[in-house]
Amino acid sequence: MSDYTWFEGIPFPAFWFSKEILENSCKKFVVKEDDLIILTYPKSGTNWLIEIVCLIQTKGDPKWIQSMPIWDRSPWIETGSGYDKLTKMEGPRLMTSHLPMHLFSKSLFSSKAKNKLDYQAVEHHTEILGALRKNVKYHTRTFRNYMFAYGSWFEHIRGWLSMREWDNFLVLYYEDMKKDTMGSIKKICDFLGKKLEPDELNLVLKYSSFQVVKENNMSNYSLMEKELILTGFTFMRKGTTNDWKNHFTVAQAEAFDKVFQEKMAGFPPGMFPWE
Ligand code: A3P
Repeated sequence: MSDYTWFEGIPFPAFWFSKEILENSCKKFVVKEDDLIILTYPKSGTNWLIEIVCLIQTKGDPKWIQSMPIWDRSPWIETGSGYDKLTKMEGPRLMTSHLPMHLFSKSLFSSKAKNKLDYQAVEHHTEILGALRKNVKYHTRTFRNYMFAYGSWFEHIRGWLSMREWDNFLVLYYEDMKKDTMGSIKKICDFLGKKLEPDELNLVLKYSSFQVVKENNMSNYSLMEKELILTGFTFMRKGTTNDWKNHFTVAQAEAFDKVFQEKMAGFPPGMFPWE
C-alpha cells in the first residue's frame, strides 16, 4: 500500500485518510452556525489548543479531558472516524482540521454564515516555523519541495490568513502562546464569549501545561494503535520555540528566510512573531 492517499494533488498519510472521506469532507460536510473549528497545519500545537478550548468549555474542570480521548472531543473532519462522529454529533460541535482552505467545505464560506458571523473558527498557526524549522524531519522535506503531507505550509497559511479580518476568526501563534500563555487563554475566552473567574483560568493554565498534557493518556496519543503511528514519531517532543536553531545551519536558515520572504510576500511587516 502506498504511504499516501493523493487528493487534489496533495498527499495525506494513507493510514488515516481515504479518498472517499477526503472527498466527503471537502464536498459534502456541512458547517453549522454554532460550530467551533480549530484549523492548523500539522505540528503547530493543534492538540495544545484543543486542550485549552476543552478546558475553557468546562471552566477548568479536568474531568472531560481526563475521560475522553482528544480525537473524540474534537474530531478531525477529514478522517473516517472523525467525519462519522461529526455527522452524528449534536451541536455545538468542536472539531479540528488540517485541510488547506481551498479544500475546506465551501459551506464555511456560505453567504449566510459570512453575513451573520455566527459560527466561530479558531485558526492556530504557530509554529510555522515550528512546523518547518522546529522539527528537522519535517523541515528538510518541506523546505526542499515546499510540499509535504497535507500540502504546502505556505499555501495553508496564505489561504487561512486571508480570513484574518473576519470577526469570527481568531489567529493565534504558538510563539505568542508560549510567551504569554495566560494572555492567550484570556484572548480565546474573549473570542468565545466565555467569562472565567481567575481560579478557573488558573485551572485551564495548569491542566493544559506541557507536562500535564504529556502525562494525560486521553491527550498524549498513547491510546492510539501503535501501527497508526510512524516509527520514531513523537507527538510531544520538547514543546519549545526556536528549536529549529539546533537543526539548521546558518546557511540553511538564510536560505529558508529567503524562501519565506518570497512565499509570504504581501503580508504587512510585523505580521509574524518571529520576524
Ligand atoms: P514539539 O514537536 O516541538 O514537541 P500538533 O499538536 O499540531 O501536532 O503540534 C505538536 C507540537 O505542539 C509538539 O511540539 C508538542 O510538544 C507541542 N505541544 C503539545 N502540547 C503542548 C503544550 N501543552 N504546551 C506547549 N507545547 C505543546
